[in-house]
Amino acid sequence: MSNSSAGRETWSTRIGFILAAVGSAVGLGNIWRFPFQVGQEGGAAFIVMYLAFVVLIGFPAMMVEFVVGRQTGLNAVGGIREFAGGAWKYLGGLFVFIGFVILSYYSVVGGWVLRYILGSATGGYIAQGPGEYFVQISSGLDALAAHAVFMLLVVIIVALGVKQGIELGVKIMVPAIIAIFALLAVYAFTLPGAGEAYSYYLSPDLDYLLANWQSIVPAAAGQGFFTLSLGMGVMITYASYLSEDENLGIDGGTIVIFNTGISILTGLIVFPILFSAGVDPETSGAGAIFLSVAEALGNLQFGRIIGVLFFTTVAIAALSSAISLIEVVVSYAIDEFGIARERATILIGSAIFLLGAPVTIDTVMVDLYDIFAAQILLVLGGILLVTLVSWLHPEEAIDELSKGIKSFSGIDQVWLWTVRIPVLVVLIVSLYLGIDTFVDFLTGDAFTDFLASL
Ligand code: PFF
Repeated sequence: MSNSSAGRETWSTRIGFILAAVGSAVGLGNIWRFPFQVGQEGGAAFIVMYLAFVVLIGFPAMMVEFVVGRQTGLNAVGGIREFAGGAWKYLGGLFVFIGFVILSYYSVVGGWVLRYILGSATGGYIAQGPGEYFVQISSGLDALAAHAVFMLLVVIIVALGVKQGIELGVKIMVPAIIAIFALLAVYAFTLPGAGEAYSYYLSPDLDYLLANWQSIVPAAAGQGFFTLSLGMGVMITYASYLSEDENLGIDGGTIVIFNTGISILTGLIVFPILFSAGVDPETSGAGAIFLSVAEALGNLQFGRIIGVLFFTTVAIAALSSAISLIEVVVSYAIDEFGIARERATILIGSAIFLLGAPVTIDTVMVDLYDIFAAQILLVLGGILLVTLVSWLHPEEAIDELSKGIKSFSGIDQVWLWTVRIPVLVVLIVSLYLGIDTFVDFLTGDAFTDFLASL
């Protein structure tokens, strides 16, 4: 990316755009959130639903954001205002709010990752035991301090405008993730519990799916939107830098394929290790990735070096996603209030840090923020965006999508009617079920016990 005089950055190359969008998509959503959702929602049954969501709902919804971004050439908030006008401009405000909420707890989990880089370097989690180490660093002052460091890194990168560095980081990150994760997946394959894990992870229990669809559907919708960075305008901002001769479908498809592949690969590491260690994936919760990888590294030759490499790669993935989240808020503040970039970034970063601070009291707070953000806010953002583009501005959308495509006849109507009815209906049902899940969580044992303990 290079800076123009107007303060807007443009992608130097098409690959630059894809890398940055992949950098936003690939993050804690794939590496931390995906395995823990799979564990909570019944293994392969969840994966079937998740894959269906990514392909049938996520991909068309990504096109919706690309259309707004490329047509207006503006960021999420300005883009919506220009594209729609009227009361729709408040949708931009919703995006800013979502960015705030997600980054506030994303940074707490990012802080855990930083602690695992340290724990790998010192051998801390090997000496202390993976379970105890996770308990120690995931809440309390340790977690608060690490959350502060993570937010500080985000603020420094964005305030200095060194996103070129991040683009470079992403270029290294994607191959590094694939290489290190493949190595760990091969190790996991050799474990005694691998067979059982693969059948849990790869062969769906359809009876389970039918019996539990009311919690699996909103979980898959939330994961689909979270992992693809959809529902809060991030992809609007990225597509605003694209030129008209690019085929949006091919770019979106590339992003979806890389992103999904990395999630699936992460599961091939986590589940064999959990099964071999005799840990029930359902109960390992938000700690699944940390516990299982720490366990594996303790048994591997050069485990500590691999650990530093692994968690550093995860930290880069988390930072490149966090930057896309804060950028929505920062560019809004710059456009709206004319605040300088550094000042806006520091103020917003501090506010997000404060909002995330309560999350470090107990890991149950991660669930609270996470269910609210992914299963309610992002899905709501998606519903509004899809309605706006497909029902209120279909001509512009089709016109925009057809650019960069040689033969578009026929596909346009398929896309339009897919997003207009099935996508929208599924998202509305998911939102309804997501609210239900959230209410169940608020009234469930884990959260009420936590409140009672305060
Ligand atoms: N997609 C990112 C991840 O999977 O970690 C998280 C994320 C970034 C969600 C940006 C939403 C978003 F707008």
